[in-house]
Amino acid sequence: MIVCVCNNVSDKAIRKAVEQNGVRTYIQLQRTTQTGTCCGKCTSCAKQVLKDAVETY
Ligand code: FES
Repeated sequence: MIVCVCNNVSDKAIRKAVEQNGVRTYIQLQRTTQTGTCCGKCTSCAKQVLKDAVETY
């Protein structure tokens, strides 16, 4: 599923950022994938997907 429509970032891309790029925080996710850097409407969803990805990594 697409989490961030503005920047075309999927939940899969967020998990990949955690597993392969060492992303652990939302700021790191923004810097790595650009998630949430445009309209910001995806912020809470992106944070939840990031949290789940970090917890299950
Ligand atoms: Fe993510 Fe707009 S949907 S910044």
